Amino acid sequence: MKHLQFSRHRRLRQTANLRAMVRETHLHTEDFIYPLFVVDGANKKIEVASMPGVYNLSLDLLEAELQEIVDLGIKSIILFGVPDEKDEVGSGAYHDHGIVQQGIKLTKEKFPELVVVADTCLCEFTSHGHCGVVENGQVLNDPSLDLLAKTAVSQAEAGADIIAPSNMMDGFVAAIRYGLDEAGFQHIPIMSYAVKYSSAFYGPFRDAAQSAPSFGDRKTYQMDPANRLEAFREAESDIQEGADFLIVKPALSYMDIIRDVKNNFTVPVVAYNVSGEYAMVKAAAANGWINEKEIVMEMLTSMKRAGSDLIITYFAKDVARWLKDN
Ligand code: PBG
Ligand code: ZN
Repeated sequence: MKHLQFSRHRRLRQTANLRAMVRETHLHTEDFIYPLFVVDGANKKIEVASMPGVYNLSLDLLEAELQEIVDLGIKSIILFGVPDEKDEVGSGAYHDHGIVQQGIKLTKEKFPELVVVADTCLCEFTSHGHCGVVENGQVLNDPSLDLLAKTAVSQAEAGADIIAPSNMMDGFVAAIRYGLDEAGFQHIPIMSYAVKYSSAFYGPFRDAAQSAPSFGDRKTYQMDPANRLEAFREAESDIQEGADFLIVKPALSYMDIIRDVKNNFTVPVVAYNVSGEYAMVKAAAANGWINEKEIVMEMLTSMKRAGSDLIITYFAKDVARWLKDN
């Protein structure tokens, strides 16, 4: 053995302190954006069956939830709305007193420092559950853009700090940027769901938001999971149209894409750790099959290592607690 030449990688792994000193990737509470689902009505805190710990919350209970979030040091939330009434054109999405607009107003009144991201889409508000205008069984692109721009402007008027369009119509960033600028919101950034795959990992979200399409699927507007180069085209066009952040979604099965986007663009990259990724961990943990805390920390650390600057995650409160304890 004496003459053997080889590397001693274990030298830097000997103690916890040494490992901490050479650690390359760190999670911080400010990396996380926490999703909330606000609903019409009062005194509602309804747990989503497939997402333990995630609720449909009525506005009267929102303040207490926000207080908890702020106390944990979380800097940002993303708001989704689940309205009582839906219609063909999703008018609840761009109504002045829509559920999301009310949620934004209340949040900014009570917690002006909290960065409020508004998800800009129609699917939670349309009777057919698609992310755009439907005619003869087709999701129409250009007629959807006007409604999306209207939605973004009404969210900005309500006080949203960031507009996050998730609809995947072509030209949505251009249309929303133009709409915001015209309305005097040149300063409001767009966090674009630029690279959004058509994914079975959104299943539990659609339970939470009651937004599953009533016919067909989203494959004519969301991306094919088999494609990588298409992600470059999507990111490129959104940057040209004025996106300030790029979201890659889902995260766990798309770490290669997160890395590609990070390496090829200079805006902040956001990974969306989606509902199905959350549900799988929760289900396995409930069975005692995995160590939830360790699995979650490993998953989120991997998303940052892959290149994401920020992570939208239902685990944000748990992780904030764990980081505090350390
Ligand atoms: C709405 C929207 C979806 C998600 C975020 N915004 C669902 C979808 O596109 O069907 C998914 C989030 C998640 O699964 O956690 N367009
Ligand atoms: Zn949608």
